[in-house]
Order: sequence, then structure tokens, then C-alpha cells
Amino acid sequence: MSMNVPAESRPATEYLFGAGDEEIARLLERAGRRRLASEVLLDQLAVAPGWNVLDVGCGPLGILDLLAERVGDAGSVVGVDREPAMLAAARRVLAERALNRVRLVQASAAAMPLPADSFDLVHERLALVSLAEAPDATAEMVRVTRPGGWVALQEYDHVSLLCQPPQPAWDLLMNAWHRVRAEAGMDITVGRHLPGLLRAAGLGDITVEVHSSVRRSGADGHVLPLYMAATHRDRMTTVGGLTAAELDGAVADLTAHLDDPNTIVVNPLLFQAWARKQS
Ligand SMILES: C[S@@+](CC[C@H](N)C(=O)[O-])C[C@H]1O[C@@H](n2cnc3c(N)ncnc32)[C@H](O)[C@@H]1O
Repeated sequence: MSMNVPAESRPATEYLFGAGDEEIARLLERAGRRRLASEVLLDQLAVAPGWNVLDVGCGPLGILDLLAERVGDAGSVVGVDREPAMLAAARRVLAERALNRVRLVQASAAAMPLPADSFDLVHERLALVSLAEAPDATAEMVRVTRPGGWVALQEYDHVSLLCQPPQPAWDLLMNAWHRVRAEAGMDITVGRHLPGLLRAAGLGDITVEVHSSVRRSGADGHVLPLYMAATHRDRMTTVGGLTAAELDGAVADLTAHLDDPNTIVVNPLLFQAWARKQS
């Protein structure tokens, strides 16, 4: 089932990665890689059969599958996303996996048409796009959590994102991407702010964990600067300030560099922060 909310309730910040087929495929591939850290989080929260749980900004899957496995038929799972294309993809993926009991709701994280005090766990992963909007979304997540239930946030912080050995093409593409991202209002430091967001939303006794990983698998389109160069060529060459020749040259140089088995990329730090709503 899905419900629609008026477009005027959408937050102003654009989700820069969009909701196209390429982004949906990327998120599904990433959901697999991000599974372990999310399983660790759900273990810590002791998510159990019978719980009513919510995944905010679920995209084409998020952790809906992990939640459904844990709460079982006695529980309930709801996914919220503001993008109809994301929800259409989620509907397809859930049907393929026979997860027929997950309910999908189209809404902004900051204004969810869901009753107060109703979920045992309210979770989001990578949906707090900007620090300007994150407080409203976090407060809304707390509102729909039942007293004694958990609010859990997972967001990246780019503090650890680097390429070793250093490479000028990496810096060139990352600098262009930072300009594009800043113009769209996206923040690359949201992770470190998660405890503060929970505190500002009235929660205490907050737990924080971080996860990261290293990739040595060679160049592929999922390395952030290459992904941005491929999917946002127009913005990288306008807002990003690169000429088309600079962009193409940097992509070729970086691809060769990443194909060197001695090159490593340290992924962004994934922050996880969680706390109970007071009873
Ligand atoms: C990076 S994707 C993450 C998807 C999923 N949580 C995951 O971990 O794979 C961000 C998702 O959040 C959604 N989103 C961004 N801002 C939102 C908002 N204000 N309200 C609801 N959904 C939002 C986007 O449409 C997108 O599906």
C-alpha cells in the first residue's frame, strides 16, 4: 500500500543522486555491502519478532529486508521515502523477495503521515541529506517512536575518504564534486552530527559506533569521484568548474590508478547513533 503527500511538503534540499535507474541499481548493490554494519546495529538493539519497525528514506530496499526477517509475521515493517521512483523500485524488489507484508508510504521524513508513539524502532540510513533539514526529520522520527522504543541513525562522514597513494586526478574530481554537492545543499559531515541531532530531539543516553572499510578491488563506477563524473557530467563541468577535457583526462588517470593493485581507497566513515525515547 502507498500513500501520497502533496509536493509542497517536500524539503528544499535536492537529493543530488536522484532516483534514476542507475542510482537505484547502485543503492541495491550497496545495500548488500552495507548489510553487515546494519546487522550489527540491529543486533545491538535486539530487534525481535513482533516489533513494529520503520525505515525512513528506505530507497529501493534500505534495511527493509533485514527488518522483515527479524520481526517476522508477528511484527510489521513500514518503509517511507519521498521519491515515487524509489518506492516503485522497492515494491518490485520486495515482491521479488516475497516480502509482501512490508508497507510503503510516500512522504517526507520531516512530515510522515504516521501516528505518534507507534513504532518500537524508527531507523534511517543515508537519508539525512543536509544538516539544515536533519533536525526536523530527526524530531519527526522521535515523534512516531513509542515511549521506550529506539531511534537509530546511520550516516556517512567523509572524514576518512581518501585514496592512497595520492593522485592529482582524485583531488581534481573530488574538488569538483565538493562544489557540486555544496551548491545542492548536501553535507558530507552529517555522520559526526548524529549524536547532537538525537540530543537536540530530546533523547539522552546515546550510543555511537563507527564503521569503515578499505577497497582494493580496482576501478569501478561505484568509486565516488568516478560515479559523479559519469552520472553528473554536466554539473561537474559547470558548477564543478572542470572543462570536459579535464574531466575526461582525470577519469582516465584515476581509472588507471585505481586499477593498480597497490592503490587503496578508504571508504567514508559510517556513523551509527541510537537512543531510546523516554517512557
Ligand atoms: C542514499 S539513499 C539511501 C536509501 C536507503 N536508506 C539505503 O540505505 O540504501 C537516500 C534515500 O533517502 C530518500 N530521501 C532523501 N531525503 C528524504 C526526505 N527528506 N524524506 C524522505 N526520503 C528522503 C531518497 O529519496 C533516497 O531514496
